[in-house]
Amino acid sequence: MKCVVVNGTEQKGCTYNLKEIFLDELKPRQLTEFYLPKDAPNYCTGCKLCFVKSETLCPHYQKVEPIWQAMLEADLIIFAYPVYVLRAPGHVKSLLDHLGVHWFAHRPDPRMFNKTAVIITQSIGAPNKEAQKDVKTCLNWLGVSRVKKIGFGMMEGVIWNEISEARRAKFERKIRKFARQFHDLTPANRSLKTKFIFQMCKMMQTLLSKKTPEGQELSPDLQHWIDNGWVVRK
Ligand SMILES: Cc1cc2nc3c(=O)[nH]c(=O)nc-3n(C[C@H](O)[C@H](O)[C@H](O)COP(=O)(O)O)c2cc1C
Repeated sequence: MKCVVVNGTEQKGCTYNLKEIFLDELKPRQLTEFYLPKDAPNYCTGCKLCFVKSETLCPHYQKVEPIWQAMLEADLIIFAYPVYVLRAPGHVKSLLDHLGVHWFAHRPDPRMFNKTAVIITQSIGAPNKEAQKDVKTCLNWLGVSRVKKIGFGMMEGVIWNEISEARRAKFERKIRKFARQFHDLTPANRSLKTKFIFQMCKMMQTLLSKKTPEGQELSPDLQHWIDNGWVVRK
């Protein structure tokens, strides 16, 4: 199994240790890891060149492209990050902003449609759900139907080695059990939700196609939908 991990922290702390246990259980054949903020693109400037021309013109293309390519090649996409002020860390959101061009609303890549993704988060004690939401929403809009989540509350502290052995053993049991469901990974079926979003975007592109007169240059988005055979230009 090929895995890519987007680590939302460079600290070798709680997030890192939980993710390492997950990988130890999974034993992927091939592993590519990115560590944010080091490997994160700078904030999106809002230039919109990705949408109106090409993502290769993004000022942060050099940072985004290796992560995107690794996601396309992976069987399992893993996001592992701590909860910051009840949400995902800003550098994780900054990466997600740059992936907008590959959302259903723009130029989705069919290689994403049968993938599985995992979100691993932890906090001191705050609920993890809202922090997982941004990443889950982004993955669904990128076409990933199967997104599994697991969250932890450290409770005893935020320094991994200072957490009691009993509690760390409990975390280990929980994440190993969670990881075991990915041992025999099969391509995910497309969910009703992703099918619905795809159909809505297809309708939108079909309408745009009808409104674009013959001979006028097509938007990169519409051209992409035509090239993939999803919109037929009459
Ligand atoms: C900037 C910042 C904000 C945080 N916000 C929260 C929070 O809102 N709720 C919470 O329970 N923990 C919060 N934490 C704790 C983290 O979720 C995490 O438990 C801690 O950073 C240890 O993770 P690490 O060892 O992977 O760095 C925050 C930590 C940082 C650095």
